[in-house]
Amino acid sequence: MTLREATSQKHKQAEEMPFNARMFKGQLSKNEYLLYLEQQLQIFEAIEKTGLPTNSLSRVDKVRQDIKELTDQGFSADFVLDSTKAYADYLGSLSYEEVLPHVYLNYMAIMFGGQMMKKKVPSTGRMYDFENMQEAIQSIRAVQKNEWADEANKGFDFNIAMFDELEAVCASGKLAANS
Ligand code: HEM
Repeated sequence: MTLREATSQKHKQAEEMPFNARMFKGQLSKNEYLLYLEQQLQIFEAIEKTGLPTNSLSRVDKVRQDIKELTDQGFSADFVLDSTKAYADYLGSLSYEEVLPHVYLNYMAIMFGGQMMKKKVPSTGRMYDFENMQEAIQSIRAVQKNEWADEANKGFDFNIAMFDELEAVCASGKLAANS
């Protein structure tokens, strides 16, 4: 089974998480999207401290710019969810070889589904911009292995827990007034 086939069930589950579904329908407020960006920043920072197959994948600066765009407008949501912290801590414990399945997961997510997402989010969406997308995708395709399935599915589980908590925080009214 290919990696894509072995992770397709979890991909579908992640895609259907209410927070993700709302994002895809263009229904997130700026505060809600900002909260999501803060979580993405933790994930990208944890991975990029260890390394990437090519520098052009690097997302930390771009996510910071997207965050700044919203904080400059007065929005704020700068807290790290427990589920995000758990994933970032886990990522931080991995070697370069071990973190690669999570590079596949989190960077392909931005390059594939993300291109549709870019049009729907309340931000310029620099996080979804790659100077040379084909080269960036190829740098991951060149190293990916079908044996990563369990680890990639584990990464999906962390992401799913994060989407659960994101939706719970949004529903709790803890975020500042929507806009
Ligand atoms: C609404 C949310 C999402 C949509 C609409 C979406 C859509 C897509 C599409 C259209 C593709 C390319 C076609 C395909 O291979 O089936 C794709 C690939 C991919 N997505 Fe997503 N996606 C979403 C969420 C996610 C999330 C949350 C993750 C993981 C964090 C993720 C990880 C991936 C990966 C790793 C691939 C590459 C599969 C491969 O070709 O090896 N996606 N996605």
